[in-house]
Order: sequence, then C-alpha cells, then structure tokens
Amino acid sequence: MAGLFAVAVLAAISLIKHAKASPTSNDDGYRHPPNGVCTDYCVEVSATSTGYVWGIPTFKDNYDVVEFLTEIARKDSAEVFHPLSGVKNVTDTYEVAATFCTPNKTKDGKEKVVLLATHGLGYDRRYWASSYKPEDYSFVDYALDKGYSVFFYDRVGTGKSEKLSGYVNQATNQIAIIGELAKSIRAGKYTGNLGKPNSIVLVGHSFGSYTSQALIASQPEIVEGVVLTGIAYPNATDLAPLSFKWILEAFASRIANQQSAQWHDRDTGYLNFGDIYAHVNTFFKQPNYEVPAAEYAQSIAQPFAAIEFLSLQALNLDSNSFKGAAMVTAGQYDLIVCGGECESTFSGGGAQAMFKGARTLDLYIHPGAGHGVNFGLNATGFYGQITKFLDANF
Ligand SMILES: *[C@@H]1O[C@H](CO)[C@@H](O)[C@H](O)[C@H]1NC(C)=O
Ligand SMILES: *[C@@H]1O[C@H](CO)[C@@H](O)[C@H](O)[C@H]1NC(C)=O
Ligand SMILES: *[C@@H]1O[C@H](CO)[C@@H](O)[C@H](O)[C@H]1NC(C)=O
Ligand SMILES: *[C@@H]1O[C@H](CO)[C@@H](O)[C@H](O)[C@H]1NC(C)=O
Repeated sequence: MAGLFAVAVLAAISLIKHAKASPTSNDDGYRHPPNGVCTDYCVEVSATSTGYVWGIPTFKDNYDVVEFLTEIARKDSAEVFHPLSGVKNVTDTYEVAATFCTPNKTKDGKEKVVLLATHGLGYDRRYWASSYKPEDYSFVDYALDKGYSVFFYDRVGTGKSEKLSGYVNQATNQIAIIGELAKSIRAGKYTGNLGKPNSIVLVGHSFGSYTSQALIASQPEIVEGVVLTGIAYPNATDLAPLSFKWILEAFASRIANQQSAQWHDRDTGYLNFGDIYAHVNTFFKQPNYEVPAAEYAQSIAQPFAAIEFLSLQALNLDSNSFKGAAMVTAGQYDLIVCGGECESTFSGGGAQAMFKGARTLDLYIHPGAGHGVNFGLNATGFYGQITKFLDANF
C-alpha cells in the first residue's frame, strides 16, 4: 500500500514537472528568455588560486555558528578572532553551470558585446533572469532587448554548479574562475553561434562585483568594461570591501543542511538566511518592493560559504591600472555595502580612488532600492541606466 502510494506521488510530481515545462523554461525553474537564443553549458574550468585555509573547528550545529557570528561582529574581532590559518596554493577543476543568450533580434552589432554576469551571495544565476514577472525583474531579458549578449552562471557552491566544501570555496578560487571564463568567452567558446565577441563586460552583484573587480585589479587587460552593482567603498582612504562586520548577523545565518533536506549536498560550511525576514532585512527596502517578489527571491535563495564572506574582506580591489569603462552602482538604501544610506558613501570618493585610469567612471545610486536592486520596484529603470552606460561606451 505504502509502495503504491509512493508510486502515485512520484507520478503526480512528474506530471507537475511536465506541466511546468515549456519551450522557454527548463523544468526546474531556470528560464530561457524568449527574446534570446540561449544555450546551457556545463563548463569544466581549471584554475589556480591562492586561498585561505579554514583555521577553526568546523560547525557541528547552530550554536557553533552563532558563536562564529559573535566573534566576527565584536569590535576587537581583528585582534582576538582568527578563523583563517594562512594561505595555500590550490589548482583544481570546477564544474560550472552556465547559460549564454544572444538576442534573437540584433541591434547595431551590440550582440558582440558579451556581458559576463556573476551573482552575489545568497543567490544563483536566476538573480539575473527571474521567472517571476520577467518583464519587471529580469536583467537578461532587458539586456537582450537592448541588443546585448549575456553569459550568466551559477557560482561554484550554488545552483547546478559543483558544490565544493563551504570551508574551502572562497573569493580567490572564484576570481580565478571568472578569469578563465572570460578567456574562454574571448576565444568564442560557450557563445553559441555568436563566435568571438568584440568586447567583454563583467557585470556583478555584491560578492560577484567584488570578485569581478579583484580580477581586473590583478589582470586589468582581461576585459573592456565592468558594471559593478551592489557595491560601495567606505571612502577614499578606506578601500576595504566591507566595513560592516554584523552582516552575517543580519542574515541570521544558519547551517543550510540542518534547515532543509534541499541542501543535503552542502556541508556545514554553507549557511543560509535564517528566514525570509532576514533576507528582506538585508536585500529589500520598504516601500520599494512587492512581497511576492521577495517571496520569489526567497524561493530561489542559495546558501553561501562562511569562508566566502571571510575571504572577501582581504581582497585587493585597487583597479587603477584598468583602462576600460567602469560603472559603480548601488541602491539608495543598501544596508550591506553602505550601512543603509549610499549618498554619503558614494560621495566619499572611494570609487574615484580605485579607478584612476578608467576611460570612464559612471557612479549611479538607484532611488529607493535596497541591496537586491534586481528584485526591487523599478528594477527596469536600473537596467536602463546600465544599458545607457553600455550604449555610451561600447
Ligand atoms: C524571438 O523568439 C521568440 C520566441 O522564440 C519569438 O516569439 C520572436 O518572434 C523571435 N523574434 C525574432 C525577431 O526572431
Ligand atoms: C604560491 O605560488 C606562488 C607562485 O608559484 C609562490 O610564489 C607562492 O610562494 C606560493 N604560495 C604558497 C603559500 O605556497
Ligand atoms: C574613512 O572611513 C574610515 C572607517 O571605515 C574612517 O576611520 C576614516 O576616518 C574615514 N576617512 C575619511 C576621510 O572620511
Ligand atoms: C526608475 O528609475 C529611473 C532611473 O533612475 C528613473 O528615471 C525613473 O524616474 C524611475 N521611475 C520610477 C517610477 O521611480
């Protein structure tokens, strides 16, 4: 009887999956914009990086996690808490799940500008291609409509990409991965029928922006442009990636695999938002969002590795050798990178101090928005500012 019931349930699930499938969406919620010609890839990336070694016991339970959060957040953390124990060179091969889309209606050769998009902590590549109201929340749909091609992928540890240990997977190996992806795209690999692009622009959100910037800081010739969203620098003399140590507290970070069986393939180094309110607290701002958009964002949220956050703090972001075009942007009320108010942060001169050699530097603060600009109201107004920057420079 129990067996029969299981079969019936399985059949029902497969029917539901089947019913959801359509030419424009995979059966698992990943979506191909209808205004593009899109191809999914599983890219094998070999990369070498110098990463940190986790230096304290791994987490058994959430008591260990909250102790970790407390030690990071305390005011004398740098002196008394040492969760990392030195560095190590790592060469590895990473499996990266990606989508490339080129517009099915081209515009003045702009399809030869490929946007290489890297999402931030808490998401996977669906941050760029929402299946909830894509006309309002999908950057990829918007960019395709304006004629640009987009390569977007799940960072390792998220979505359909390889899940490394959450005590290993960090900014440094991911910077190396962005670099290798950029080289492959340059060579015309993973670009469908487009062939070799004329230009590559790194587009990032948050952690994806910091890592994209760290790449051009070390390899300034690797791409022609950067669009860094959800990013800010404390001021012209303090260029640290993040000045707020309480961010993981605000996430109410909890061990993902103890929260839901959905995360069985992540070890205890992967933490997740404690609940939707913690997510909204750090990524959204009233009255600039609709609750269903926040619920969708929560439904696609992904755990992040504890060491990703730690490794971010030590990145060298000095991009003064970069000669391409740069856009630096955040939401007006971004709590994570601006402490909840970006006007004064942006007027601190941090971006100007980082991009002295750039041929253009556009700074833009999106009115009303929090950290997760792509899921706020008027996200298309934000995308419009990005494509305006691209139109002016490529
Ligand atoms: C682009 O693709 C969509 C869906 O496949 C189709 O409806 C549309 O007509 C196509 N546009 C062009 C210009 O080919
Ligand atoms: C990593 O490799 C670089 C280049 O080969 C070398 O200079 C450096 O000392 C190595 N670092 C470690 C920690 O082994
Ligand atoms: C820059 O920010 C740091 C804190 O992040 C502060 O100590 C310093 O005084 C600030 N400098 C200026 C010029 O505002
Ligand atoms: C949306 O953002 C754009 C770009 O900043 C702005 O011009 C427009 O007024 C905004 N629209 C609304 C309704 O806030």
